[in-house]
Amino acid sequence: MTHVTQEKWSSGMAFLLAAIGSAVGLGNIYRFPYIVGQNGGGAFVLLYLGVVLFFGIPLIMTELTIGRRRQLPPIAAYGALAEGMKSRPFWKLIGFTNIMTPIGILGFYFVIAGWTLNYVYSMITGQLSNLVEGQTQTVFAEMMNSPVTLIFWMTLAVLITAFIISRGIKAGLEKAVNVLMPMLFFILVLLVIYSLFNGGIVETFKFMFYPDFSKITGETVLEATGQAFFSLSLGSATMMVYGSYLPKNESIPKLACGVAFADTFVALIAGFAVFPIIFTNGLDLDSGPNLVFVTLPVIFDQMPFGQVFGILFFMLLAFAAITSTISLFEPTVSTLEEKGICSRPVASLFAGIGLWCLAGLSALSMNVLSDVRLLTFTETVAGKNIMDLLEYMSANAMMLFNTLFAGIFIGWMMNRKDVLEEIGLGDSLLFKFWLTIIRFVVPVVVGYLIYAFFAGKLSS
Ligand code: PHE
Repeated sequence: MTHVTQEKWSSGMAFLLAAIGSAVGLGNIYRFPYIVGQNGGGAFVLLYLGVVLFFGIPLIMTELTIGRRRQLPPIAAYGALAEGMKSRPFWKLIGFTNIMTPIGILGFYFVIAGWTLNYVYSMITGQLSNLVEGQTQTVFAEMMNSPVTLIFWMTLAVLITAFIISRGIKAGLEKAVNVLMPMLFFILVLLVIYSLFNGGIVETFKFMFYPDFSKITGETVLEATGQAFFSLSLGSATMMVYGSYLPKNESIPKLACGVAFADTFVALIAGFAVFPIIFTNGLDLDSGPNLVFVTLPVIFDQMPFGQVFGILFFMLLAFAAITSTISLFEPTVSTLEEKGICSRPVASLFAGIGLWCLAGLSALSMNVLSDVRLLTFTETVAGKNIMDLLEYMSANAMMLFNTLFAGIFIGWMMNRKDVLEEIGLGDSLLFKFWLTIIRFVVPVVVGYLIYAFFAGKLSS
């Protein structure tokens, strides 16, 4: 069954907003600042920018092209583009691993999206006000230990996402991003201004842009690449599916640059929202995930208008999370619809139930199921509970795997005329540069990363 009635984005701008909504997520606002903190600042940021430029943009172009060429979701897209090739079943399998990846990501992402919704509520109701030292740690730990709290807020995230998806591209996704994205940018700017007025700007600049190359190790390179791929929503069917709804007259290279630029800009700006207040309060940067959920609430509690800005901060996180969960949910629904298995609303319902179960397991793995280990065959995964395992396998391993094969497919297998036509740069120098990166650099570097990853050299 082909996608004859498939909906399209109403414009390139609508696509751009949705794709930026997908890219800008917890990865930018929650993860980027603490990873920069853990990896020593400026040198890591520089490396990250290099990865976005040389791998990120070419790979977004690759995935958009595979999706848009036949305007089909991944399994069908690979199937159609590999028509007549002996290796066609293999490529359909790659389409399948692409579809499985966002499912795995949502297994943990929905839980964290739930945390953010819970924190908006807790901030509004004043549960994070007037706390003494150490109490935010207790609040966070209590949430983690409570299956009911975690599942309640996770369920809300699933319901919001499934509802938006069930309404379709124009009435659902576009409408949601049209509201959420401008609010997200507005809040972010407000937070940066607030943060800058409270001091710490010079330290922040120095920290984020002064490169100390002695801090760069093999592991930092791996970390920067993993973070960039995750942040740009690569290797997870998202860009392929969003690309399949992209009108043919829109320029893929331009849009890819737009997405990468906006995503990186938000990650850097998020650093300026978070670091100055940390520096002025003399707190520890290297506090991992606690940075946002434990350290920041303490600071908001002590600052003028802290509660208002605390509410805004967690709303920002929640909006960023929801525009990403939408994009992670869409590939499954798009595939079920395209296969003619069921209508969009029914597909959204079934996918919602399935993902709720998976995310539920993840939520329970922080308390009642914390001792359960699903995979124990190698030391790298043996210590991981369900949630960590899902993150490790989907957000790292599978994403790298999918991008590697997307690159090999477009660079070596796909009909050159099709590629030229979709990319729309003619047989120019720029096109050749892109092709060289995709054909040679991506397989070597991403292939090496996959090896390094399984050899346990990439911490997640
Ligand atoms: N890019 C999103 C973030 O930074 C996460 C994401 C990954 C979304 C893959 C879609 C696909 O949070």
